[in-house]
Amino acid sequence: MSYVVALSGGVASGKSTIADLFSKLGVPIIDADMIARQVVQVGTEAFNQIVMHFSQEILLANGELDRSQLREIIFNNDHERLWLNHLLHPLIQQETQKQIAMQSTTYVIWVVPLLVENNLHTLADRVLIIDAPVPLQVARLVKRDNISETLAKKMIMSQVSLKKRLSYADDIIVNDGNLALLTAQVNLLHRKYLDNFNSKI
Ligand SMILES: Nc1ncnc2c1ncn2[C@@H]1O[C@H](COP(=O)(O)OP(=O)(O)OP(=O)(O)O)[C@@H](O)[C@H]1O
Ligand SMILES: [Mg+2]
Repeated sequence: MSYVVALSGGVASGKSTIADLFSKLGVPIIDADMIARQVVQVGTEAFNQIVMHFSQEILLANGELDRSQLREIIFNNDHERLWLNHLLHPLIQQETQKQIAMQSTTYVIWVVPLLVENNLHTLADRVLIIDAPVPLQVARLVKRDNISETLAKKMIMSQVSLKKRLSYADDIIVNDGNLALLTAQVNLLHRKYLDNFNSKI
């Protein structure tokens, strides 16, 4: 079974960019956001239960789940949030384990944006946190998503603080330089993970 390195960080801190760099080194990437979408795809058991619970009103015109409407409902209603969590949590967990078990590499990278918020660090062997200075995070978010600086700041402020996130870190990547510097940091960590994990086996 592969070791699991959880990769987390604030919005636009560089999670996807860093995951791509690990992927180029041959490390499998398990994406928590992708799994969360996968388990509610049209026709799945969870999809059927959600439609039964909230009625067809919860669907988009194309027949898929209206995820933003669902987010809105559970954001304003604890009872519905718990109902949905209760349904999805075990399925997400199961699918995550399944995808990890399919790998035969020394370790995998599990990209999980809400690692700290959802208390998932206990499921990983190591936690890798990306530390990006907030002004840089704002600038990258504004540029990438073409949104206002005010909205970008709001999105960042709604997440747990970097300080709290860093308190869970075994390893830290400071993403405040160019891509060459980032690549060098990833390469170094990759060597370290291979050395550490291989000597554990
Ligand atoms: N070191 C860097 N140098 C230049 N640009 C960078 C660097 N790191 C990240 N970026 C850019 O910043 C933006 C945000 O990075 P990325 O999409 O990887 O963040 P993320 O943490 O995955 O964001 P999200 O939380 O939205 O998933 C992207 O446009 C990316 O290309
Ligand atoms: Mg991303």
